[in-house]
Amino acid sequence: MKQVRQWAVWVALALGVLVAPGARAEPLPRLISAHGRYELKVDGKPYLVLGAQVNNSSNYRSMLPQVWPAMRAIDANTIFMPIAWEQLEPREGQFDFSFLDHFLRAARRHHLHAILLWFGTWKNGGPGYTPAWVKLDNSRFPRVVNRDGDPMPSLSPLAHATLAADRRAFVALMRHLKAIDPQHTVIMVQVENETGTYGCVRDYSARADRLFDGPVPRRLRRALHLGPGTWRALFGSKAGEFFHAWNIGRFVEKVAAAGQSVDPLPMYVNAALRDPLHPGPPITYESGGPTDDALGVWKAAAPDIALIGPDIYMPDSARYLRVLQLYHRSDNALFVAETGNAAPYARYLFAALGHQAIGFDPFGIDFTGYVNYPLGARVVDAATLAPFALEYRLVRPMQSLLARLSFAGRLHGVAELDDERPQTLELGRWQVKVTYNMPMFGTTPFVRRMKPVGGALIAQLGPDEFLVTGIHARVSFSLARPRRGERVQYVRVVQGRYHDGVWNFIRIWNGDQTDWGLNFTALQQVLHVHLATY
Ligand code: DGJ
Repeated sequence: MKQVRQWAVWVALALGVLVAPGARAEPLPRLISAHGRYELKVDGKPYLVLGAQVNNSSNYRSMLPQVWPAMRAIDANTIFMPIAWEQLEPREGQFDFSFLDHFLRAARRHHLHAILLWFGTWKNGGPGYTPAWVKLDNSRFPRVVNRDGDPMPSLSPLAHATLAADRRAFVALMRHLKAIDPQHTVIMVQVENETGTYGCVRDYSARADRLFDGPVPRRLRRALHLGPGTWRALFGSKAGEFFHAWNIGRFVEKVAAAGQSVDPLPMYVNAALRDPLHPGPPITYESGGPTDDALGVWKAAAPDIALIGPDIYMPDSARYLRVLQLYHRSDNALFVAETGNAAPYARYLFAALGHQAIGFDPFGIDFTGYVNYPLGARVVDAATLAPFALEYRLVRPMQSLLARLSFAGRLHGVAELDDERPQTLELGRWQVKVTYNMPMFGTTPFVRRMKPVGGALIAQLGPDEFLVTGIHARVSFSLARPRRGERVQYVRVVQGRYHDGVWNFIRIWNGDQTDWGLNFTALQQVLHVHLATY
């Protein structure tokens, strides 16, 4: 027996998968796609990331006691945690994994999955999280320079030494992660953070200028179906921005690919956005990052990046919904990589799910006392997090089912617009109307208007059967194209509760509960609706 155990240890060692005592090796998290739709698989099952991202400097052991209560208050299933290069490799070649080790043990105790954010060469465009030995050595790790040759607060993506150093640190991180996380508590890794450069379209160093005057690489031309030419000839006024995007994208690709070769977790990047309705020119946004105009360039540059997720800090519904549209593409799974933690943002979970989002992630979720108002809430406490918690608690018991329905193209969702206009969806022969600001009884809207908070999810389970839920919304069904005299009736409206994906009957709604449509409030109500006509 002893011999068999020893033999198993040798095999595990040889495969590099020695499992810590008590830990069970789980299947690798994967992002799969079919028909332009996506599904994240965690522990072998469809998974919806109901995320919560801590503040920027909460990645220290001393801060975690103020992190976990916030995770409980919001009821997230996934915590997003920065891993800073300065923390990992304070002296060149000497790695310190103690925070990661401690964090993962604690995350498991709190029954959370985790997404690690690699704050390396870029954090909001700058090298703020690089170790001092990088920050202070601009001859080895050169900065982007502007047209006047002045150094910018951003490192050049063209420097071989910077790439080599960042890549080595990231590979060390992934190698260590692989050894300590056979159960895949970590389900995805964000490579860098909001890459790009503020205040300068591209690097204007002599080397960058030479490359900029040269031909556009064939790989990019092929992806964009372009013939040969220089950056200026092929991209005109966009040339500088796309040149920078390509170079940063290639850098990130090389870091991600090297990390994946030791631990093949799904890796993604997040985007600081440009205004989706009035993007300019002039370029006032972070140039070179995966902004909506540069998605094609980034896709070509970084094929090992599983997805590009927007960081959405635009509370108005017109902009928010436009961003969801722009980042939901058949070649890009929608993933709200960050969003504001103030109340108006909560309802957009429903809209994101309507765009087949694989996850949603409000930012600044801890009780360390830091707030990023006006991007987010003025105060972060349990009351601030309540609107998110309400939705997470509603969705979480059926998250895997919703992820599966989404992948099958059966999940639909809407969030209340700023002007509270009703929204309609056509699902097979049915038209679904979602209205807001209505009482539960009658058709007269409330006089005192609530701030927009509502949203609804509708999944089509069969031709005439739907799973329906929502918050502060009324959902009504009619026929999309009724024949003369044809009318709608409910066969049954069953209220139930999912528990770990299993449906439990509570009661049948009828009478007042259905006469005025299906009315959702702040209660957690999930319905199975069976319709017919007469
Ligand atoms: C977006 C960044 O990605 C975050 O790390 C953070 O800096 C927020 N902006 C602002 O709080």
